[in-house]
Amino acid sequence: MYNEDKASHTESDSRDYLEAITASKKDPSELIYYLREVTFISLHAATHTTWHTLLSALSMFAIYPEVQQRAADEIQQEIGRGEVTTDSLDKLSYLKAVISETLRLYPAVPYPLRLTKRATVAGGFQLPRKITVLPLIISENMNPSRFVDPKAFRPERFLDDKGKFFHDPNLGTFSRGKRACPGREFSYMSSSIYLTKILQHFTVAPPSKNAKLSEIGADFFTSAGRLDELRFMRREGAPPIRDVQFDTRLSTIVREVIAAQGKKDI
Ligand code: HEM
Repeated sequence: MYNEDKASHTESDSRDYLEAITASKKDPSELIYYLREVTFISLHAATHTTWHTLLSALSMFAIYPEVQQRAADEIQQEIGRGEVTTDSLDKLSYLKAVISETLRLYPAVPYPLRLTKRATVAGGFQLPRKITVLPLIISENMNPSRFVDPKAFRPERFLDDKGKFFHDPNLGTFSRGKRACPGREFSYMSSSIYLTKILQHFTVAPPSKNAKLSEIGADFFTSAGRLDELRFMRREGAPPIRDVQFDTRLSTIVREVIAAQGKKDI
């Protein structure tokens, strides 16, 4: 695959992700190492976080039926039962506000990792040089000077006075600076598609009246903000569910990378 790609590639013109990487890494052994690591990190960073966010957002819909109804009404008004397009996704302001509010209360990554380059003071603490710092994202997101009544689940806080969704810079969930998450827009897009498709077909309910959100877990990717079980009831007149094709360029790359592991001539 590497050789095929190299043959059709001119360095000044990278047509996709793989070509950009092959252009920057001349040594094939370095290339396979780099590709494997980047693919793993990207998929891990993308899948766990999105999965967590979806489960939390669905749990919020189950616990707050009025929020679910408003999101479903917006979908019905903007898209109806039709296909989701990038244009129609732009119109789903309330749904994106629900995603932001879910991410505020239940950030999928609890903290970024930082190493101090020099001695400094942060938040009133003296930090020596070369120590690892884990700034807790939830402490920013629950700060009442940034978000009024921070414990309340209130998606409207991410809507402007015209009802349009906006990214609030106070939200710490995707971190900040040079190493901030590059997948923010991708995650809003994919979460919006999943949630739209689910709400077009189903209503979501808790398993029982007294169902409670799960407690903070001990794993890196927290399990807080989820119901252990959800019930999905098919909406009346919902369109039939079709098979989803996953044959995209990225999945082809991933398959090739996995198949190439251990082969020397890549
Ligand atoms: C709800 C979804 C997501 C959340 C909450 C999230 C959150 C984060 C956080 C907090 C970081 C650490 C940033 C830092 O160190 O300052 C990070 C890093 C990263 N994220 Fe995300 N992420 C999400 C989705 C995604 C998606 C969908 C992708 C890829 C398509 C992605 C790719 C990455 C990558 C590659 C890094 C490492 C960046 C670097 O070290 O320079 N993330 N993410």
